[in-house]
Amino acid sequence: MAKSSEIAARFLAIDAFLHSNRYFWQPRPFHGDPLPWTERAPDLAQWLRSKPQEWMDENEDKAPLLADCPAILSELHRQSQTLCALPLLRGVEQPLDLRLTRGIPGRKLSQIQAFAQVALPRLRTPVLADWCAGKAHLSRSLAKLSGAQVHSYERDAALCAQAETLARAQRVDLQAHVVDVSTHTPTVPSTATLVGLHACGELSDIALSTAHSDGIPALILAPCCHHKRRSRRYVARSALGQRESQLGALEESALRLSTARVVIATRRMQRIRANKMLYRAAYRSLVPGTFRSGPESWFTGSFKAFCAHISEREGHTLPAFDTEQVLTQARAEVLLARAMGMVRTPFRRPIELWLNLDRALRLEEQGWSVEIGRFCLDSVSPRDLLIAATRNAQPDGPLR
Ligand SMILES: C[S@@+](CC[C@H](N)C(=O)[O-])C[C@H]1O[C@@H](n2cnc3c(N)ncnc32)[C@H](O)[C@@H]1O
Repeated sequence: MAKSSEIAARFLAIDAFLHSNRYFWQPRPFHGDPLPWTERAPDLAQWLRSKPQEWMDENEDKAPLLADCPAILSELHRQSQTLCALPLLRGVEQPLDLRLTRGIPGRKLSQIQAFAQVALPRLRTPVLADWCAGKAHLSRSLAKLSGAQVHSYERDAALCAQAETLARAQRVDLQAHVVDVSTHTPTVPSTATLVGLHACGELSDIALSTAHSDGIPALILAPCCHHKRRSRRYVARSALGQRESQLGALEESALRLSTARVVIATRRMQRIRANKMLYRAAYRSLVPGTFRSGPESWFTGSFKAFCAHISEREGHTLPAFDTEQVLTQARAEVLLARAMGMVRTPFRRPIELWLNLDRALRLEEQGWSVEIGRFCLDSVSPRDLLIAATRNAQPDGPLR
Protein backbone atom coordinates (compact mmCIF):
# COMPACT_ATOMS: atom_id res chain seq x y z
CA MET A 1 0.00 0.00 0.00
CA ALA A 2 1.68 3.21 -1.06
CA LYS A 3 -0.88 5.82 -2.06
CA SER A 4 -1.43 8.43 0.57
CA SER A 5 -5.22 8.31 0.17
CA GLU A 6 -5.16 4.48 0.48
CA ILE A 7 -3.21 4.61 3.75
CA ALA A 8 -5.59 7.20 5.21
CA ALA A 9 -8.70 5.32 4.03
CA ARG A 10 -7.42 2.02 5.46
CA PHE A 11 -6.55 3.68 8.78
CA LEU A 12 -10.01 5.19 9.13
CA ALA A 13 -11.77 1.95 8.11
CA ILE A 14 -9.80 -0.04 10.71
CA ASP A 15 -10.40 2.66 13.28
CA ALA A 16 -14.17 2.44 12.68
CA PHE A 17 -14.09 -1.40 12.88
CA LEU A 18 -12.16 -1.34 16.14
CA HIS A 19 -14.29 1.40 17.65
CA SER A 20 -17.67 -0.10 16.77
CA ASN A 21 -16.61 -3.50 18.17
CA ARG A 22 -14.62 -2.24 21.13
CA TYR A 23 -16.72 -4.10 23.72
CA PHE A 24 -15.32 -7.34 22.26
CA TRP A 25 -11.62 -6.55 22.54
CA GLN A 26 -11.12 -3.83 25.16
CA PRO A 27 -12.19 -5.78 28.27
CA ARG A 28 -9.87 -8.64 29.23
CA PRO A 29 -11.42 -11.78 30.67
CA PHE A 30 -11.03 -11.85 34.47
CA HIS A 31 -9.86 -8.26 34.70
CA GLY A 32 -12.86 -6.49 36.20
CA ASP A 33 -16.58 -6.62 35.49
CA PRO A 34 -18.29 -9.44 33.57
CA LEU A 35 -17.57 -9.22 29.86
CA PRO A 36 -20.11 -6.85 28.26
CA TRP A 37 -20.36 -8.79 24.99
CA THR A 38 -21.64 -11.97 26.64
CA GLU A 39 -25.09 -10.36 26.96
CA ARG A 40 -25.10 -9.26 23.33
CA ALA A 41 -23.85 -12.60 22.04
CA PRO A 42 -25.03 -15.27 24.53
CA ASP A 43 -24.82 -18.11 21.97
CA LEU A 44 -21.17 -17.32 21.28
CA ALA A 45 -20.42 -17.13 25.02
CA GLN A 46 -22.12 -20.49 25.56
CA TRP A 47 -20.26 -22.09 22.63
CA LEU A 48 -16.90 -20.90 23.95
CA ARG A 49 -17.65 -21.88 27.55
CA SER A 50 -18.44 -25.43 26.48
CA LYS A 51 -15.01 -26.17 25.00
CA PRO A 52 -12.62 -28.56 26.75
CA GLN A 53 -8.86 -28.08 27.03
CA GLU A 54 -7.96 -30.37 24.08
CA TRP A 55 -10.32 -28.49 21.76
CA MET A 56 -8.79 -25.20 22.87
CA ASP A 57 -5.21 -26.40 22.25
CA GLU A 58 -6.20 -27.58 18.80
CA ASN A 59 -8.50 -24.75 17.67
CA GLU A 60 -7.60 -21.56 19.48
CA ASP A 61 -6.41 -19.86 16.30
CA LYS A 62 -8.81 -21.38 13.80
CA ALA A 63 -12.14 -21.38 15.63
CA PRO A 64 -13.79 -18.79 13.31
CA LEU A 65 -13.21 -21.16 10.39
CA LEU A 66 -14.99 -24.13 11.99
CA ALA A 67 -18.37 -25.11 10.56
CA ASP A 68 -20.19 -24.83 13.89
CA CYS A 69 -18.65 -21.48 14.89
CA PRO A 70 -21.36 -18.93 15.73
CA ALA A 71 -21.81 -16.51 12.83
CA ILE A 72 -20.84 -13.45 14.81
CA LEU A 73 -17.26 -14.67 15.39
CA SER A 74 -16.82 -15.89 11.81
CA GLU A 75 -18.07 -12.52 10.55
CA LEU A 76 -15.70 -10.53 12.75
CA HIS A 77 -12.86 -12.73 11.50
CA ARG A 78 -13.93 -12.21 7.86
CA GLN A 79 -14.11 -8.43 8.27
CA SER A 80 -10.72 -8.39 9.97
CA GLN A 81 -9.12 -10.38 7.15
CA THR A 82 -10.58 -8.08 4.51
CA LEU A 83 -9.51 -4.90 6.30
CA CYS A 84 -5.99 -6.18 6.96
CA ALA A 85 -5.13 -7.75 3.60
CA LEU A 86 -1.70 -6.42 2.64
CA PRO A 87 0.64 -7.26 -0.24
CA LEU A 88 4.05 -8.83 0.13
CA LEU A 89 6.31 -5.94 -0.80
CA ARG A 90 8.22 -6.39 -4.03
CA GLY A 91 11.89 -7.04 -3.63
CA VAL A 92 14.73 -8.58 -5.60
CA GLU A 93 13.39 -11.69 -7.28
CA GLN A 94 16.11 -14.19 -6.36
CA PRO A 95 16.56 -15.51 -2.82
CA LEU A 96 19.76 -13.96 -1.49
CA ASP A 97 22.75 -16.09 -0.69
CA LEU A 98 23.81 -14.91 2.73
CA ARG A 99 26.10 -17.82 3.58
CA LEU A 100 28.91 -15.35 4.14
CA THR A 101 27.10 -13.98 7.15
CA ARG A 102 28.07 -16.69 9.61
CA GLY A 103 26.54 -17.23 13.02
CA ILE A 104 22.98 -16.17 12.26
CA PRO A 105 20.45 -18.56 13.82
CA GLY A 106 18.06 -20.24 11.31
CA ARG A 107 14.87 -18.27 11.85
CA LYS A 108 16.68 -14.95 12.12
CA LEU A 109 18.47 -15.76 8.87
CA SER A 110 15.12 -16.30 7.10
CA GLN A 111 13.87 -12.97 8.44
CA ILE A 112 17.03 -11.20 7.35
CA GLN A 113 16.89 -12.81 3.95
CA ALA A 114 13.29 -11.66 3.47
CA PHE A 115 14.01 -8.17 4.83
CA ALA A 116 17.12 -7.83 2.65
CA GLN A 117 15.23 -8.84 -0.50
CA VAL A 118 12.75 -6.02 0.09
CA ALA A 119 15.32 -3.53 1.41
CA LEU A 120 17.99 -3.84 -1.31
CA PRO A 121 16.09 -2.04 -4.07
CA ARG A 122 15.04 0.62 -1.56
CA LEU A 123 18.50 1.56 -0.23
CA ARG A 124 19.01 5.16 -1.26
CA THR A 125 22.54 5.73 0.01
CA PRO A 126 25.83 3.86 0.51
CA VAL A 127 25.56 4.30 4.30
CA LEU A 128 23.32 2.27 6.62
CA ALA A 129 22.18 3.13 10.14
CA ASP A 130 21.08 -0.12 11.83
CA TRP A 131 18.66 0.72 14.66
CA CYS A 132 18.69 -1.54 17.76
CA ALA A 133 21.04 -3.70 15.79
CA GLY A 134 21.97 -6.54 18.13
CA LYS A 135 25.00 -8.12 16.42
CA ALA A 136 24.10 -6.13 13.29
CA HIS A 137 23.27 -9.28 11.34
CA LEU A 138 20.86 -7.32 9.17
CA SER A 139 23.15 -4.44 8.21
CA ARG A 140 26.22 -6.66 7.78
CA SER A 141 24.18 -8.80 5.40
CA LEU A 142 22.96 -5.75 3.52
CA ALA A 143 26.48 -4.33 3.45
CA LYS A 144 27.83 -7.58 2.03
CA LEU A 145 25.27 -7.34 -0.76
CA SER A 146 25.46 -3.61 -1.44
CA GLY A 147 28.96 -2.54 -0.34
CA ALA A 148 27.46 -0.02 2.09
CA GLN A 149 29.24 1.35 5.15
CA VAL A 150 27.42 0.65 8.45
CA HIS A 151 26.76 2.51 11.67
CA SER A 152 24.96 0.26 14.15
CA TYR A 153 23.19 1.47 17.29
CA GLU A 154 22.69 -0.93 20.18
CA ARG A 155 22.71 -0.59 23.98
CA ASP A 156 24.36 -3.94 24.73
CA ALA A 157 28.14 -3.43 24.60
CA ALA A 158 28.85 -7.17 24.21
CA LEU A 159 26.60 -7.37 21.13
CA CYS A 160 28.31 -4.28 19.68
CA ALA A 161 31.73 -5.87 20.20
CA GLN A 162 30.54 -9.04 18.44
CA ALA A 163 29.12 -6.97 15.59
CA GLU A 164 32.53 -5.34 15.09
CA THR A 165 34.41 -8.64 15.30
CA LEU A 166 32.11 -10.28 12.76
CA ALA A 167 32.31 -7.23 10.50
CA ARG A 168 36.14 -7.28 10.56
CA ALA A 169 36.15 -10.98 9.66
CA GLN A 170 33.75 -10.30 6.79
CA ARG A 171 35.50 -7.12 5.64
CA VAL A 172 32.46 -4.98 6.28
CA ASP A 173 33.09 -1.34 7.18
CA LEU A 174 31.07 -1.14 10.42
CA GLN A 175 31.16 1.15 13.42
CA ALA A 176 29.08 -0.08 16.36
CA HIS A 177 27.78 2.65 18.69
CA VAL A 178 26.93 1.54 22.22
CA VAL A 179 23.93 3.69 23.04
CA ASP A 180 20.58 3.48 24.81
CA VAL A 181 18.48 5.17 22.15
CA SER A 182 15.59 5.78 24.53
CA THR A 183 17.63 8.02 26.83
CA HIS A 184 20.28 9.37 24.48
CA THR A 185 19.10 9.75 20.91
CA PRO A 186 22.16 9.34 18.67
CA THR A 187 22.80 11.60 15.71
CA VAL A 188 22.57 9.45 12.61
CA PRO A 189 24.67 10.50 9.57
CA SER A 190 22.42 12.56 7.32
CA THR A 191 23.53 10.44 4.35
CA ALA A 192 22.31 7.16 5.89
CA THR A 193 19.38 4.92 5.08
CA LEU A 194 17.99 3.85 8.45
CA VAL A 195 17.16 0.15 8.70
CA GLY A 196 15.64 -1.61 11.69
CA LEU A 197 14.44 -5.16 12.18
CA HIS A 198 12.18 -5.65 15.19
CA ALA A 199 13.07 -2.60 17.24
CA CYS A 200 10.64 -2.86 20.14
CA GLY A 201 7.67 -0.51 20.63
CA GLU A 202 8.74 2.99 21.45
CA LEU A 203 12.21 2.39 19.98
CA SER A 204 10.64 2.22 16.52
CA ASP A 205 8.90 5.53 17.17
CA ILE A 206 12.21 7.08 18.24
CA ALA A 207 13.75 5.70 15.02
CA LEU A 208 11.10 7.46 12.95
CA SER A 209 11.47 10.79 14.71
CA THR A 210 15.28 10.56 14.58
CA ALA A 211 15.19 9.75 10.86
CA HIS A 212 13.04 12.80 10.31
CA SER A 213 14.91 15.25 12.51
CA ASP A 214 18.38 14.12 11.35
CA GLY A 215 17.38 14.76 7.76
CA ILE A 216 18.13 11.29 6.41
CA PRO A 217 16.76 10.38 2.98
CA ALA A 218 15.25 6.92 3.52
CA LEU A 219 14.17 4.43 6.16
CA ILE A 220 13.10 0.79 6.19
CA LEU A 221 11.66 -0.41 9.48
CA ALA A 222 9.88 -3.53 10.76
CA PRO A 223 8.50 -2.64 14.22
CA CYS A 224 7.47 -5.14 16.91
CA CYS A 225 6.44 -5.52 20.61
CA HIS A 226 4.21 -2.44 20.56
CA HIS A 227 3.53 -2.55 24.31
CA LYS A 228 7.18 -1.93 25.18
CA ARG A 229 7.04 1.80 25.90
CA ARG A 230 7.45 3.90 28.99
CA SER A 231 4.06 5.60 28.69
CA ARG A 232 2.22 2.21 28.50
CA ARG A 233 -0.19 3.64 25.91
CA TYR A 234 0.09 4.76 22.32
CA VAL A 235 -1.54 8.07 21.43
CA ALA A 236 -2.15 8.69 17.72
CA ARG A 237 0.77 10.69 16.36
CA SER A 238 -0.56 11.55 12.93
CA ALA A 239 -2.64 14.70 12.52
CA LEU A 240 -5.32 12.60 10.82
CA GLY A 241 -5.33 10.19 13.77
CA GLN A 242 -5.57 13.03 16.27
CA ARG A 243 -8.32 14.73 14.31
CA GLU A 244 -10.46 11.87 13.06
CA SER A 245 -9.70 8.65 14.93
CA GLN A 246 -12.56 7.56 17.17
CA LEU A 247 -10.09 5.59 19.29
CA GLY A 248 -7.43 8.29 19.56
CA ALA A 249 -5.15 6.05 21.60
CA LEU A 250 -4.53 2.40 22.49
CA GLU A 251 -4.04 1.21 26.05
CA GLU A 252 -1.41 -1.31 27.16
CA SER A 253 -3.70 -4.35 26.97
CA ALA A 254 -4.56 -3.54 23.34
CA LEU A 255 -0.88 -3.05 22.53
CA ARG A 256 -0.11 -6.44 24.04
CA LEU A 257 -2.97 -8.01 22.11
CA SER A 258 -1.50 -6.74 18.83
CA THR A 259 1.51 -9.05 19.09
CA ALA A 260 -0.04 -11.86 21.15
CA ARG A 261 -0.06 -14.34 18.30
CA VAL A 262 2.82 -16.78 18.35
CA VAL A 263 3.10 -18.64 15.07
CA ILE A 264 6.25 -20.53 15.73
CA ALA A 265 6.60 -21.91 19.23
CA THR A 266 8.69 -24.87 20.22
CA ARG A 267 7.18 -27.44 22.60
CA ARG A 268 9.27 -25.94 25.38
CA MET A 269 7.96 -22.42 24.62
CA GLN A 270 4.40 -23.75 24.55
CA ARG A 271 4.89 -25.45 27.91
CA ILE A 272 6.35 -22.29 29.46
CA ARG A 273 3.48 -20.21 28.05
CA ALA A 274 0.90 -22.62 29.48
CA ASN A 275 2.64 -22.69 32.88
CA LYS A 276 2.82 -18.90 32.94
CA MET A 277 -0.95 -18.63 32.67
CA LEU A 278 -1.53 -21.48 35.12
CA TYR A 279 0.96 -20.48 37.81
CA ARG A 280 -0.07 -16.83 37.76
CA ALA A 281 -3.77 -17.68 38.11
CA ALA A 282 -3.03 -20.21 40.86
CA TYR A 283 -0.81 -17.78 42.77
CA ARG A 284 -3.47 -15.04 42.49
CA SER A 285 -5.96 -17.41 44.11
CA LEU A 286 -3.63 -17.60 47.12
CA VAL A 287 -2.62 -13.93 47.26
CA PRO A 288 -5.14 -11.71 45.44
CA GLY A 289 -3.74 -8.74 43.52
CA THR A 290 -1.09 -8.22 40.90
CA PHE A 291 2.56 -9.19 41.08
CA ARG A 292 5.54 -8.88 38.79
CA SER A 293 6.33 -11.90 36.70
CA GLY A 294 9.62 -13.77 36.98
CA PRO A 295 12.27 -15.24 34.68
CA GLU A 296 11.37 -18.17 32.43
CA SER A 297 13.18 -20.61 34.69
CA TRP A 298 10.54 -19.97 37.39
CA PHE A 299 7.90 -21.42 35.08
CA THR A 300 9.77 -24.61 34.25
CA GLY A 301 9.89 -25.93 37.83
CA SER A 302 7.12 -26.97 40.21
CA PHE A 303 4.33 -24.67 41.40
CA LYS A 304 5.68 -24.92 44.96
CA ALA A 305 9.05 -23.63 43.79
CA PHE A 306 7.33 -20.82 41.86
CA CYS A 307 5.42 -19.83 45.00
CA ALA A 308 8.66 -19.75 46.99
CA HIS A 309 10.32 -17.44 44.43
CA ILE A 310 7.44 -14.97 44.15
CA SER A 311 6.49 -14.88 47.84
CA GLU A 312 10.09 -14.27 48.86
CA ARG A 313 10.53 -11.49 46.32
CA GLU A 314 7.18 -9.84 47.08
CA GLY A 315 7.32 -10.40 50.86
CA HIS A 316 4.02 -12.35 50.81
CA THR A 317 3.00 -14.84 53.49
CA LEU A 318 1.17 -17.70 51.81
CA PRO A 319 -1.76 -19.53 53.44
CA ALA A 320 -1.56 -23.33 53.76
CA PHE A 321 -2.81 -24.85 50.51
CA ASP A 322 -3.34 -28.12 48.67
CA THR A 323 -1.30 -27.84 45.46
CA GLU A 324 -3.47 -30.17 43.38
CA GLN A 325 -6.65 -28.42 44.42
CA VAL A 326 -5.25 -24.95 43.70
CA LEU A 327 -3.89 -26.02 40.30
CA THR A 328 -7.14 -27.75 39.29
CA GLN A 329 -9.14 -24.64 40.07
CA ALA A 330 -6.63 -22.42 38.25
CA ARG A 331 -6.68 -24.75 35.23
CA ALA A 332 -10.45 -24.27 34.91
CA GLU A 333 -10.07 -20.51 35.28
CA VAL A 334 -7.34 -20.33 32.63
CA LEU A 335 -9.38 -22.44 30.23
CA LEU A 336 -12.37 -20.14 30.62
CA ALA A 337 -10.18 -17.05 30.20
CA ARG A 338 -8.68 -18.49 27.03
CA ALA A 339 -12.12 -19.40 25.70
CA MET A 340 -13.62 -15.99 26.37
CA GLY A 341 -10.43 -14.31 25.13
CA MET A 342 -10.93 -15.87 21.72
CA VAL A 343 -13.36 -13.11 20.76
CA ARG A 344 -10.37 -10.73 20.90
CA THR A 345 -8.35 -12.58 18.27
CA PRO A 346 -9.99 -10.99 15.19
CA PHE A 347 -8.78 -7.63 16.50
CA ARG A 348 -5.07 -8.45 16.92
CA ARG A 349 -4.04 -7.68 13.38
CA PRO A 350 -6.27 -4.60 12.99
CA ILE A 351 -4.68 -3.11 16.13
CA GLU A 352 -1.18 -3.84 14.84
CA LEU A 353 -2.03 -2.29 11.51
CA TRP A 354 -3.73 0.73 13.09
CA LEU A 355 -0.47 1.51 14.92
CA ASN A 356 1.69 1.18 11.83
CA LEU A 357 -0.71 3.07 9.58
CA ASP A 358 -0.68 5.91 12.09
CA ARG A 359 3.14 5.91 11.91
CA ALA A 360 2.97 5.88 8.12
CA LEU A 361 0.49 8.75 8.09
CA ARG A 362 2.69 10.83 10.37
CA LEU A 363 5.63 10.31 8.02
CA GLU A 364 3.50 11.35 5.04
CA GLU A 365 2.38 14.46 6.87
CA GLN A 366 6.07 15.25 7.48
CA GLY A 367 6.83 15.04 3.76
CA TRP A 368 7.81 11.42 3.14
CA SER A 369 6.58 8.96 0.51
CA VAL A 370 5.59 5.82 2.37
CA GLU A 371 4.97 2.19 1.51
CA ILE A 372 3.54 -0.24 4.02
CA GLY A 373 3.24 -3.96 3.47
CA ARG A 374 4.54 -7.38 4.51
CA PHE A 375 8.20 -8.25 4.07
CA CYS A 376 7.92 -11.97 4.84
CA LEU A 377 5.56 -14.89 5.06
CA ASP A 378 3.71 -15.50 8.29
CA SER A 379 5.67 -18.71 8.80
CA VAL A 380 8.95 -16.73 8.87
CA SER A 381 7.70 -14.18 11.39
CA PRO A 382 4.28 -12.98 12.55
CA ARG A 383 5.88 -9.53 12.95
CA ASP A 384 5.92 -9.10 9.21
CA LEU A 385 4.89 -5.47 8.73
CA LEU A 386 7.38 -3.14 7.15
CA ILE A 387 7.36 0.61 6.67
CA ALA A 388 9.61 1.88 3.86
CA ALA A 389 9.81 5.62 3.30
CA THR A 390 11.79 8.11 1.29
CA ARG A 391 11.94 11.78 2.07
CA ASN A 392 10.42 13.93 -0.65
CA ALA A 393 12.59 16.68 -2.08
CA GLN A 394 11.48 19.87 -0.38
CA PRO A 395 12.55 23.47 -0.25
CA ASP A 396 14.90 24.32 2.61
CA GLY A 397 13.04 25.05 5.80
CA PRO A 398 12.71 23.91 9.39
CA LEU A 399 11.97 20.21 9.98
CA ARG A 400 8.66 19.59 11.63
C1 LIG B 1 14.52 -7.93 18.99
S1 LIG B 1 16.20 -7.50 19.06
C2 LIG B 1 16.54 -7.16 17.35
C3 LIG B 1 17.99 -7.15 17.05
C4 LIG B 1 18.36 -7.02 15.58
N1 LIG B 1 17.75 -5.88 14.97
C5 LIG B 1 18.01 -8.28 14.84
O1 LIG B 1 16.95 -8.33 14.19
O2 LIG B 1 18.78 -9.23 14.94
C6 LIG B 1 16.14 -5.88 19.78
C7 LIG B 1 17.48 -5.28 20.09
O3 LIG B 1 17.28 -3.98 20.60
C8 LIG B 1 18.23 -3.74 21.62
N2 LIG B 1 17.71 -2.67 22.47
C9 LIG B 1 16.69 -2.77 23.34
N3 LIG B 1 16.48 -1.58 23.93
C10 LIG B 1 17.40 -0.73 23.43
C11 LIG B 1 17.67 0.65 23.65
N4 LIG B 1 16.97 1.35 24.52
N5 LIG B 1 18.67 1.24 22.94
C12 LIG B 1 19.39 0.52 22.06
N6 LIG B 1 19.17 -0.79 21.81
C13 LIG B 1 18.18 -1.41 22.48
C14 LIG B 1 18.34 -5.07 22.32
O4 LIG B 1 19.54 -5.16 23.07
C15 LIG B 1 18.29 -6.04 21.14
O5 LIG B 1 19.57 -6.30 20.65
